[in-house]
Amino acid sequence: MTFPKGFLWGGAIAANQAEGAYLEDGKGLTNVDLLPIGAKRRDIMKGNVPSLKPLEGEFYPSHEAIDFYHRYKEDIALFAEMGFKAFRLSIAWSRIFPTGEEETPNEKGLQFYDNLFDELIKHNIEPVVTLAHFDVPVALIEKYGSWRNRKLVTLFEKYAKTVFNRYKNKVKYWITFNEINMLLHLPFLGAGLVFREGDNIEQIKYQAAHHQLLASALAVKAGHEINPEFKIGCMLAAGTFYPYTCNPEDVFQAMKKDRESFFFIDVQSRGAYPGYAKRFFEDNGLKIQMEPGDEEILKEGTVDYIGFSYYSSRTTSTDPEVVKNMTSGNVFGSVSNPYVAKSEWGWTIDPKGLRITANQLYDRYQKPLFVVENGLGANDVPDENGEINDDYRIDYLRRHIAELKEAIKDGVEIIGYTSWGPIDIVSASTGEMKKRYGFIYVDRHNDGSGTLERRRKKSFFWYKNVIATNGEDLGLPSSSTSTVYRS
Ligand code: BG6
Repeated sequence: MTFPKGFLWGGAIAANQAEGAYLEDGKGLTNVDLLPIGAKRRDIMKGNVPSLKPLEGEFYPSHEAIDFYHRYKEDIALFAEMGFKAFRLSIAWSRIFPTGEEETPNEKGLQFYDNLFDELIKHNIEPVVTLAHFDVPVALIEKYGSWRNRKLVTLFEKYAKTVFNRYKNKVKYWITFNEINMLLHLPFLGAGLVFREGDNIEQIKYQAAHHQLLASALAVKAGHEINPEFKIGCMLAAGTFYPYTCNPEDVFQAMKKDRESFFFIDVQSRGAYPGYAKRFFEDNGLKIQMEPGDEEILKEGTVDYIGFSYYSSRTTSTDPEVVKNMTSGNVFGSVSNPYVAKSEWGWTIDPKGLRITANQLYDRYQKPLFVVENGLGANDVPDENGEINDDYRIDYLRRHIAELKEAIKDGVEIIGYTSWGPIDIVSASTGEMKKRYGFIYVDRHNDGSGTLERRRKKSFFWYKNVIATNGEDLGLPSSSTSTVYRS
């Protein structure tokens, strides 16, 4: 009744937040290459995109990121030193098909991931590969309006088949779309959607969602044909909504909020649109264009496991007074929960919420779960000796992993845990380097300065021990009530 043998301990990154080399070796420009650090970022992520080219006078930290593209061997050696069993990464679609539409794939892009997977395999680390972690080739946004157009389904299927065929003997675990429900909240980030005046935004978002769901199902189907051993999962930005009070209105609202996200996974895991989604479309005058055969595709392309990220639980209320007190920082609007702490960036810290979320997902889908992201973004400052004593991170992770263990005892099947950003990378929501998640410190800063040198933090040694004991020894509770926590 604890972490099973072969549990996939490790870490997770995304191509655009780590690789850098944003136009190297033939890579095409993508939506995520157009996200500057600073005031304009949030608006662009929402779909108010002033230009499909980088803007003059703005800084784009992801263009160089932490230069994982050239330093992956050194980084993987550090992951191996921690004893990683798995490493989650994403393939940049535009390294393989720079404009999304080439007849033949870009060999240099394919070769890069070949080398990367070989390096992982050399260290007995299982690659877990996301096909789309928030990236769409800009050429497809210009030509088709990105996922609002059904054309993307075929192009994505071609991309998926290309990488499945190429890596079928190196990669077993796949994820189709990272945090597929992000599309509803940050549509340019999640799906490359750009809005113009007069657009029916809800209609466009749900049509794009249908296309991503189709593309996901077609990829799952193709993957299983290419290699029946493949395990292909979906990926939800999870975190159960709590009702602020036991007022039935609040309870119902919490259920509705959860369903906004479950909607995607219901389709990907059960293979059909749920009744509540059909009602939502009707009530809101949304007409999802489907072609004959779409329902069969969704039915035939259901996932093998449920991947999810968990950072925070969420809270909702129908009381206008309560709703005034929202937490800052979190993409998913949430009322402030008085019972839990918050991170420096205002993200709720609720370890028990991970147990609740895991139980809820398992009850609903009865498929193995994979925690593919969890972690604490904090501003680590090296001390006078250059050491990073990140007790607050150890404390966060320790308490979350302890709750995961409880979920396993509850009977939930969990196959792995890859913490987010095992090495510091660029933050997706803010573009900052300062928001660090790593066990490995990278000397790079918000303004692009720094040597890119890597350094082990205190948590590096802690996590190494967690993996070595298969989660049995989570270390002592940290006595630190560091400045990173504020309630
Ligand atoms: C998830 C994403 O939303 O959260 C990652 O899949 C992201 O790409 C992570 O980096 C943490 O968020 P942030 O904004 O702190 O980087």
